[in-house]
Amino acid sequence: MMNNLLLICLLFFSGLFSSPDTSKTDPGKSLKSVVDNAFIFSGKQSLLMARRYRDKEGSLPRTYQNGRDVSSDSRWWCSGFFPGSLWYIYENNRNPEVLTYAQQYTDQVEREKYTTDNHDVGFMIYCSFGNGYRLTHNEHYKEVMLTASKSLSTRYNPAVGLIRSWDHNKDKWQYPVIIDNIMNLELLLWAADNSGDARFKEIALSHADKTIKHHFRPDYSSYHVVSYDTTTALPHLKQTHQGYADESSWSRGQAWGLYGYTYLYRETKDKRYLEQAKNIAAYIVNHPHMPKDYIPYWDFDAPDIPNTFRDVSAATVMASALIELSGFLDKPLAAKYMKVVETQIRTLASPAYTAKLGENGCFILKHSVGSLPGKSEVDVPLTYADYYYLEALSRLKKRLN
Ligand code: GLY
Repeated sequence: MMNNLLLICLLFFSGLFSSPDTSKTDPGKSLKSVVDNAFIFSGKQSLLMARRYRDKEGSLPRTYQNGRDVSSDSRWWCSGFFPGSLWYIYENNRNPEVLTYAQQYTDQVEREKYTTDNHDVGFMIYCSFGNGYRLTHNEHYKEVMLTASKSLSTRYNPAVGLIRSWDHNKDKWQYPVIIDNIMNLELLLWAADNSGDARFKEIALSHADKTIKHHFRPDYSSYHVVSYDTTTALPHLKQTHQGYADESSWSRGQAWGLYGYTYLYRETKDKRYLEQAKNIAAYIVNHPHMPKDYIPYWDFDAPDIPNTFRDVSAATVMASALIELSGFLDKPLAAKYMKVVETQIRTLASPAYTAKLGENGCFILKHSVGSLPGKSEVDVPLTYADYYYLEALSRLKKRLN
């Protein structure tokens, strides 16, 4: 009796956590038409989102959970992603209504240029104003980005050689640096080029080099949080905050690292960064727990794989990074990684992961995980999953044309 009960429970839970059904991917369609259709759908869906939030003063989309919109104000680390998504859509369809919304939602994030209490100012300002500046050369956007770069630089302690990511949990972490922080150096590299102030680049590269030294394991997986002893400038703790365990590989963290060292190579042409990106890519792509469709589980070491959640946000960050990385690789490896990307994009563009028009709170993609240990945003849409999907589609479109 007890065994039967156990079996029923097991079947129930494995059904509950079974991976999205990807049988509806259409291998007959060319990749170009998959990308074009994904853009057309994303344009319509994001316009619905922009109109949905138009009258919610100061609110930005964050997720959609249990049939309800969950919004944030500009303080939330993700505030730049929806405006950034609109810029990618505008870049690809030049629709004036999209442009108006891209400008309005970007303006909503401007006050974050003064953020000095966390490293996320990079995400917030570079994804919104950065894309806006890239496409419009609006001088005001440039001023906002330079102010934000100064704000981010205040978090750099030369004695430690890194930007401090977080200020919370001071009783536990002396000087916490998270792998995600690698993403925010792109703003500083941009600022160095656009201000003539070399200090921005010095800060970025010091952070990147110390992260190579202390954040990675011998197999090129990375820790989530490394806290430094401020007197010795050496790590005193290596832990996780959003992953399964301190020694596990939290999927989005691996994707952040891959993306970070890829653009660091693009911007500096320093071969050490290319090697780092290649090694991270090999770790992720060849991981025995990576599913065949290359949409990772939320943590590569989650004990209940395959009966646990995928994290689409990790997949989209990874796809965007692999497209860029492939441009720097020899032909066979580039072809291998572009095949991975093709599988990811075809899978994400299928009904298993792409929402229906007007559903899913008007987000494009379903099935991301914010923080499973924090029981927050599990198996939901997220703005950054959509943002990096659109970036990946944009990068792919340029390659396919
Ligand atoms: N940067 C926060 C996260 O990836 O969840």
